[in-house]
Amino acid sequence: MKKIGVLTSGGDAPGMNAAIRSVVRSCIYYGVQPVAIHEGYKGLIENNMEEVNARSVANIINQGGTFLKSARCAEFRTPEGRTKAFENAKAAGLDGLVVIGGDGSFTGAMLIEKEHGMPCIGVPGTIDNDIFGTDYTIGYDTALNTAVEAIDKIRDTATSHNRLFLIEVMGRDAGFIALNSGIAAGAEEILIPEEDHSVDKLMDSLQNSGRAGKTSSIVVVSEGEKIGGVVELGRAVEESFPEYEVKVTVLGHIQRGGKPTCVDRVLASRLGVAAVEKLREGISGVMVGVRDQKVVTTPLEEAISKHNAIDDDLLRVADIVTV
Ligand code: F6P
Repeated sequence: MKKIGVLTSGGDAPGMNAAIRSVVRSCIYYGVQPVAIHEGYKGLIENNMEEVNARSVANIINQGGTFLKSARCAEFRTPEGRTKAFENAKAAGLDGLVVIGGDGSFTGAMLIEKEHGMPCIGVPGTIDNDIFGTDYTIGYDTALNTAVEAIDKIRDTATSHNRLFLIEVMGRDAGFIALNSGIAAGAEEILIPEEDHSVDKLMDSLQNSGRAGKTSSIVVVSEGEKIGGVVELGRAVEESFPEYEVKVTVLGHIQRGGKPTCVDRVLASRLGVAAVEKLREGISGVMVGVRDQKVVTTPLEEAISKHNAIDDDLLRVADIVTV
């Protein structure tokens, strides 16, 4: 294996830079030429790539975002787009590709390998933690800490004004960020897409909190939650509780930025090394991840089609402590 390309694709996540750095430095360590591809698959299609060295990735381990930039590329979803991308990869002499991203990015990797025989390895980089085959995705820990810090701040003002806050967190269709940040920030209610909720149930619970003497409350709502948008939910709560002043905060993209935590930097460093080592061993079409602290591989097809379940025990803990 003489040349390996690396790209970041889909929504950015803190720790992606650390993963790129690790891929580049592992390549150098093994005498492989690393090639940085800009703007995800778009860069492959537009031939926007360059050979890099160990110094090219200096001073980025501590930076959020991705210095290679990321994109959701519609053209790569077409067979023609993938052919163009493959031809450019072949002309650049790439023997393998490391794709850092989420399930959409892995679908692209799987297809370019199936259709053109380009060996690909996926590295899970998304704040959502919704990728099967790894206990944690790169960026999740940082996003969680950002969400908890923000919710803590909102609690200060909620308490001072006796207000009820509905706080929407990201996670797409998965409730990992909501459940974990909700527990960590002491939310009174946590609404996640994996569980059945209803406005009535929420009202009952808030009523009980009121009776128990609570004068302010925090409800963490996952963006994928199915009982309706957080703004509509806020209105419904306000109508039922005229005595409460209800506020809605959408944390939004703040959760995607910021310096990666130590956990994310170490995870990214481990997985970057593993990705290059697997390619060198002739293993491809898989994602590298961690299960029980050990690096494992999962076929891309499985990583895309299956889902990590929310831990029942954590739901039980949430039920006990969120009152
Ligand atoms: O997948 C990461 C994520 O931040 C999700 O949590 C969110 O639903 C989505 O991306 C937002 O995407 P965009 O940045 O394209 O608006």
